[in-house]
Amino acid sequence: MKILNFGSLNIDLFYHVERFASAGETINSTTYQKNIGGKGLNQSVALARAGAQVYHAGNVGQDGQFLVDFLQTVGVNTDLISTAPLPSGNAVIQIDTRGENCILLYGGANHCVTEEQIDHVLAHFEAGDMVVLQNEINQMSEIITHAHQKGMTVVLNPSPFAGCAHLPLQLVDYFIVNQHEAAQLAEQNEQEAMISTLLQRFPRAKFVMTLGGDGSLYFDSATRHFQKPYPTNVVDTTGAGDTFTGFFFAALSQGKPIPYAMELAAKAASVTISQQGAAPSIPTLDTVLSL
Ligand code: RIB
Repeated sequence: MKILNFGSLNIDLFYHVERFASAGETINSTTYQKNIGGKGLNQSVALARAGAQVYHAGNVGQDGQFLVDFLQTVGVNTDLISTAPLPSGNAVIQIDTRGENCILLYGGANHCVTEEQIDHVLAHFEAGDMVVLQNEINQMSEIITHAHQKGMTVVLNPSPFAGCAHLPLQLVDYFIVNQHEAAQLAEQNEQEAMISTLLQRFPRAKFVMTLGGDGSLYFDSATRHFQKPYPTNVVDTTGAGDTFTGFFFAALSQGKPIPYAMELAAKAASVTISQQGAAPSIPTLDTVLSL
């Protein structure tokens, strides 16, 4: 099975702070780093490092060739990445002393996806292939609709959540969400109510919900599986969800059962959060299997 990740590529600008800046306030950062990121790019890196055959589609600006080069070095096919007439997407990321982040996004080239580009990209895939999507690019409804019509398995990580409620969500096969996204999707805060609402609204979908330090949960209309977290020294949580997504769907695409995929993904995410940065901190499959 081929996996298409139609998603963002960002330049991440990291700033370490004592605490996040609030309205009207100027604060000092203790460190600054420019890095490779974007939910799309991070998930492609994780998919490839977990052994999947992954194709990344999307756009960078003239300043983004190093993002494409990085994907190539980890084995991602980049033939479907185009150059757009805007700067590459970028993210201003504050990291506090607990390793938590606060992210400001600029879409840039990520928001230059055209209908012609979607047709061109999807022509390389067939029924049974998988498309992995986040919500950092434009034309999301068209991509979901056309991929579903082709018979591809549609995976959606509705992050950032803004605007996701208007997507054709009934066509999604797998949702991968954190607790906040699950609550927004279900319009419920209590976990059991959230789960039953999601299964009622999307009865044929399967869900993976990450619970931060409390583990993760898989559920569909027939089964449920809880995965415990792997404790680690938290340095920077940026990219942990992307790592989980990549390792989980790589394992699934290789026919592995849900409990195996969940455990592998949880271990991989624990490595990512023990290191600084997003894409560069995503481990290889060998590292994860050796844990
Ligand atoms: O999920 C982490 C990512 O979110 C960062 O790499 C940043 O680019 C934002 O897209």
